[in-house]
Amino acid sequence: MEDIVLSGIRATGRLHFGNFLGAVQHFVEYQERDDTTCLYFVADLHTLTTLDNPDELRTNLMEMVKDYLAAGLDPERSIIYVQSSVPEITELCLYLGMLQPLGDLMVIPTYKDLVRRFPNKVSHGLVTYPVLMAADILGPRATLVPVGEDQVPNVELARDLARRFNNRYGDLFTIPRMMSEMVRVVGLDGAKMGKSDADNSIDISASIDDIRQRYLQRGITDEQRVRRSDPGDPYNRCKSVYPLHELVTAGEVQTRTIAQACMAAQIGCADCKHMLVDGIAAVLLPFQERRREIADKDAEVREILHEGGKKARAIIAETVAEVRDRMGIVLY
Ligand code: ADP
Ligand code: TRP
Repeated sequence: MEDIVLSGIRATGRLHFGNFLGAVQHFVEYQERDDTTCLYFVADLHTLTTLDNPDELRTNLMEMVKDYLAAGLDPERSIIYVQSSVPEITELCLYLGMLQPLGDLMVIPTYKDLVRRFPNKVSHGLVTYPVLMAADILGPRATLVPVGEDQVPNVELARDLARRFNNRYGDLFTIPRMMSEMVRVVGLDGAKMGKSDADNSIDISASIDDIRQRYLQRGITDEQRVRRSDPGDPYNRCKSVYPLHELVTAGEVQTRTIAQACMAAQIGCADCKHMLVDGIAAVLLPFQERRREIADKDAEVREILHEGGKKARAIIAETVAEVRDRMGIVLY
């Protein structure tokens, strides 16, 4: 069966390597398959939950779409759009909200995390964040949602809402599934890489020299490996370098060789960091070159979003018309 693949990213800033490996790289992989229809968007409405600077939002949005394109998203093969270009999504959010117990929203880990990070911004919009996300997903009746591991609770909630709707109003939605190979990319200090922690994150536009210097100076490895001659424990104790090798370095044999060399003290942590940054360079350099080529193509980007918005809207409006009908809402 054909998959309808859908995902989005908030326009909270430039993408980091965690977004790239955890999400965008998978977007491109699914786009290359013949048995998929792919929809990828910028979640500008979700961004409003934590960002209230309009210029910053507009700038971030354009930059992010350029990042999408430079990473390999192709408007001929994927529908690339902005969430707010499809007003039916917010309408669907309202309908789905009627099926969503309030209490469940207040205990969801992604909500609690945002409350912790933005204690002054606990709005109604923040509480209903996952319901809007469910509307994003269910609007095009997505079957597969590629996201990083941190988004699992939100996608679970969308799955629950799909089931609730189907039970109450008759089967309409396929229950969307997640990828089997979800990842959590760690930053320099070993914690999850995130846009809100610039010190720990690798910006995908950073120069390779800068990335190398940051890893050499601040990348935390096995803290119990004090001397170069001490054997290291890449699997359990290395915080930021070996875990990334597993995601970046080509081939299982190569990563196993690195781990064995670390355990036998044949390589030091600096050697391991150099190899890692070479791997990161292999991924980022082609991206950065394409990114420079489209840096000032704002008119083209706007056109892509305009066309993508029309296509997405046609698909989503059809679902929302059906939802209205099943729920008894008539447009007079
Ligand atoms: P951030 O957490 O940096 O604010 P977003 O919440 O906008 O980023 O996430 C956009 C996408 O990137 C989501 O699919 C999310 O799961 C993924 N993602 C973000 N950070 C990571 C990470 N460190 N590892 C894996 N995936 C990530
Ligand atoms: N909440 C997601 C994030 O922070 C962004 C997002 C919004 C999303 N709507 C979505 C992801 C729908 C997947 C599907 O990354």
